[in-house]
Amino acid sequence: MAEQLTFTANAGKALRYEQLIPQLRALIGHEPSLVANLANVAAALRQCFGFFWVGFYLVEGNELVLGPFQGEIACTRIAFGKGVCGTAWKEGRTVLVSDVDAFPGHIACSSASRSEIVVPIRSQTKVVAVLDVDSQELNDFTEADRIGLEHIGELLSALF
Ligand code: SME
Repeated sequence: MAEQLTFTANAGKALRYEQLIPQLRALIGHEPSLVANLANVAAALRQCFGFFWVGFYLVEGNELVLGPFQGEIACTRIAFGKGVCGTAWKEGRTVLVSDVDAFPGHIACSSASRSEIVVPIRSQTKVVAVLDVDSQELNDFTEADRIGLEHIGELLSALF
């Protein structure tokens, strides 16, 4: 299949998510490998939005373990309830952090990261993974990101 993404480069985020989501559905629809699909979704998000870091942490026992990602090397394990990722897991909700320095317990994998959004991914009702996106800009994530990334999280929940 053609592995080419098409989207309007200078369009607002909401439109780009709208354009990206059906392409992600097509990209992962016929591939049974969880790792392959998460890797391509991370790459597609990076390509579409130019995010500084985008990737997945997968629940293993009482920890999150680093999964497929795009960006700089990152911490490999995060305990339940720790950092932005562990908080999103524990509370079962999206956590949007406009300024990581103002989030108590933020885990700085890279000192260049300034804002962050973490979306839990559920299988049935249990959180099985989180999607983590980091930016080098303060206040970089909006309601459009929350809606778009939660939509992608729902799409991915079928893979677990
Ligand atoms: N900042 C995250 C850790 C993961 S890195 O951003 C890739 C956190 O506080 O959970």
